[in-house]
Amino acid sequence: MASIILLTIAISIIYLLTNHVRGLRQNVLAAKKSGIHYIVVPVFFMERWWLVGHRLLFPLLKKLPPSWTRWVDFTLPEFTYDYSHEVFKRVRHDTFLTVSPGGICMYTCEPAAIAQITTRRNDFPKPTHIYTSVDIYGKNVVSTERDIWRKHRKATSPPFTEKNNHLVWNESIRQAQAMLTSWVGDDGKGNRTVDRLMDDTMRLSLNVISAAGFGRKMDWPTPETESREDESGYVDPSKIKNEDRDIDPGHKMSYTYAIHCLLDNILLQFLMPRWLLSRLPGVTPKKANEAYHEWGNYMRELVMNKKADLEAGKAPNDTNDILTLLVKQQLVNTDAKAKGQLTESEILGNMFVLILAGHETAANSIHFSAVYLALFPDSQRRLQKDLDQIFAGKPPSEWDYDRDLPQLFGGMAGAVLAEELRLVPPVTGIPKSTMEGVGPQKLAVEDKECLVPANTYISLCTGAAHRHPGYWPTSKPRLAGGHTAHPVANIDNDLEEFRPERWLISDTADGTTVTADGLPVETLAKEDGLGVNESSDTSDRLFKPIKGAYLPFSDGYRACLGRRFAQVEVLAVLAVLFQNYSVELAVDKYATDAELEKMNDDEKAEIWHKAAEDVRELLLNGLGVIITLQIRKGTVPFRFVPKGQEKFPDNVDEIWKRNHSDQISETGVPGWRSWAGTPKKRGGSGVSDQGI
Ligand code: HEM
Ligand SMILES: *[C@@H]1O[C@H](CO)[C@@H](O)[C@H](O)[C@H]1NC(C)=O
Ligand SMILES: *[C@@H]1O[C@H](CO)[C@@H](O)[C@H](O)[C@H]1NC(C)=O
Ligand SMILES: *[C@@H]1O[C@H](CO)[C@@H](O)[C@H](O)[C@H]1NC(C)=O
Ligand SMILES: *[C@@H]1O[C@H](CO)[C@@H](O)[C@H](O)[C@H]1NC(C)=O
Ligand SMILES: *[C@@H]1O[C@H](CO)[C@@H](O)[C@H](O)[C@H]1NC(C)=O
Repeated sequence: MASIILLTIAISIIYLLTNHVRGLRQNVLAAKKSGIHYIVVPVFFMERWWLVGHRLLFPLLKKLPPSWTRWVDFTLPEFTYDYSHEVFKRVRHDTFLTVSPGGICMYTCEPAAIAQITTRRNDFPKPTHIYTSVDIYGKNVVSTERDIWRKHRKATSPPFTEKNNHLVWNESIRQAQAMLTSWVGDDGKGNRTVDRLMDDTMRLSLNVISAAGFGRKMDWPTPETESREDESGYVDPSKIKNEDRDIDPGHKMSYTYAIHCLLDNILLQFLMPRWLLSRLPGVTPKKANEAYHEWGNYMRELVMNKKADLEAGKAPNDTNDILTLLVKQQLVNTDAKAKGQLTESEILGNMFVLILAGHETAANSIHFSAVYLALFPDSQRRLQKDLDQIFAGKPPSEWDYDRDLPQLFGGMAGAVLAEELRLVPPVTGIPKSTMEGVGPQKLAVEDKECLVPANTYISLCTGAAHRHPGYWPTSKPRLAGGHTAHPVANIDNDLEEFRPERWLISDTADGTTVTADGLPVETLAKEDGLGVNESSDTSDRLFKPIKGAYLPFSDGYRACLGRRFAQVEVLAVLAVLFQNYSVELAVDKYATDAELEKMNDDEKAEIWHKAAEDVRELLLNGLGVIITLQIRKGTVPFRFVPKGQEKFPDNVDEIWKRNHSDQISETGVPGWRSWAGTPKKRGGSGVSDQGI
């Protein structure tokens, strides 16, 4: 008996091994034939056991000699973001393959290759199998390809119009004012620490989509509608009460509670089969499952009511929210089998996916803008000067979309958004492929005709493309905090640093602008009604990177549908926050308000430097992706103070550097490996020798 078991095990192992070897041999052959540079690695990064378990192996891998574990870098889920452009420099190619027994991946930060791929949508489709988890309510514009995608895109793009953007503008301003008041208090003094910027901006963007998208206005919670308040009177928005009086008849949860509960448990929703989720013990799975059904029911009612209103001619003709237009187009196609018509489950699927695609992304932009502006007070002052010029102290009730938005977009506010998205694009690797039967594809790689193998998973590496010194104008690094912004990438230039001023054309050092001229880029064939707009990543008044070098919203046919929506929202919010207030790093961890009051600028700079180093550490090692790239390992505490009452001088980092000129390091951290842990302190004296 025992021998039979042993034999079975042995045979299984041999079978697995031969399969692996055979897979690897085939893939290496295909890679060789492609003409694209390739690296052989032992695991396919998309393999489930590796995705889930790779971290557990780090302690073991760290013990091995570095020369045995060079491949590890190339199998980490976010490695092209973590190592930035350095990993391409290391490989000496802007496009390369990793070849493993389980499959082939292609990574590229080469603008010309990226532009070809985003333009040829049928040759390089999205690998739709990785998107099936977002289908929890139905198929949608994000998770489909080809004709089915066209149908969804045609149905979902009409609502994204300038008319609807007026609504986005109004609602963003309304929500931002409420959010700001919740931070600075009714008296507007604002001398309290705000530790919830990420959650609050998520709430804000959710409320904006709810109103501009579904005509369902949600109000900022006040202490009365919240279940908890801390000593300082600050309300914790994560503790939303499922208030009886807010629950619509026939529901168990209020709309607000349901949507928060749904999104808070998004991984459960994605990864657990529905039948299992409803049977698991414990409160969380139960609530998660209930929220799924409740939000679905709210949406179904919204659709039903809207339909009835429209049919009865009761709905005002000037409502432009997404829901109205989605339902309208369903009514127009009276023939039940009309080709372009979405089913109810598809409408729900799209409503859900619009929330998913639109709320975290936009929230991150607001959050990271605040983080960077707190780290760079001089850029913040410049933004505020710009706002003074645009609004001349007028209250938001007098702001005008048509007059003011282009000014914001073409000025410092637009530059801050563009720069923030350059450094922290929410999608770090835009997935494309040669899967699903398309076969090998010709592609010009580094000016050479190559053949991308069939079944290749392609990642357009936004982070690295956005910091490619070959395609962006560069200056010397500013060495904020006395060291380079990244341990190994771009250590001799400023591309890892936040400098929104680089987008203001009149500011570029030699006055030159880089344009897309001269690149062999096919333009998109005209396809009406898909809402594809090629010219609006940034304002015409800002610096224009060459095509394929900047793609926070992706590009081509599958570019973000909500690009303009998001830009309007973020710019409106930044305008509200920074018109009268400044954001500063909260330093409670290092000094009390009373202590700070007594300090001179040199002493303040010491304190500020410590808080800033914490934030820089978070930006380097604390980011992670669940749906989008966010800070995962902590929060950044802030103070919002009335303009002119800042606690720290604008040149606080310069003061620190002047007092610590001996600790300035221009060398980075040689041999840095993101997975093997960072040295305690980057830069500074002595650390640069600490190679691993
Ligand atoms: C700063 C904010 C945003 C960024 C950086 C962003 C970025 C992106 C990116 C990179 C993609 C391509 C994803 C892929 O190919 O897998 C995408 C797609 C999409 N985004 Fe956004 N997005 C933002 C805001 C929004 C908003 C506010 C909405 C809606 C209200 C939205 C709706 C969509 C939709 C529907 C798609 C799928 C389009 C298609 O495949 O045809 N996004 N977005
Ligand atoms: C936005 O607000 C302005 C002024 O408050 C108002 O006149 C306008 O009608 C609003 N627009 C929309 C689309 O709600
Ligand atoms: C805010 O200011 C008031 C009065 O100026 C002071 O009593 C209070 O302690 C301050 N709060 C904080 C958190 O610093
Ligand atoms: C909307 O427009 C239609 C036709 O253009 C008209 O018959 C209907 O009365 C209008 N409804 C409202 C509420 O204004
Ligand atoms: C900023 O202050 C001005 C002047 O007091 C006021 O009119 C305006 O409403 C304030 N802005 C915001 C966004 O609250
Ligand atoms: C593209 O978007 C810009 C605003 O972002 C708009 O002015 C322009 O008309 C749009 N172009 C097309 C073809 O829709």
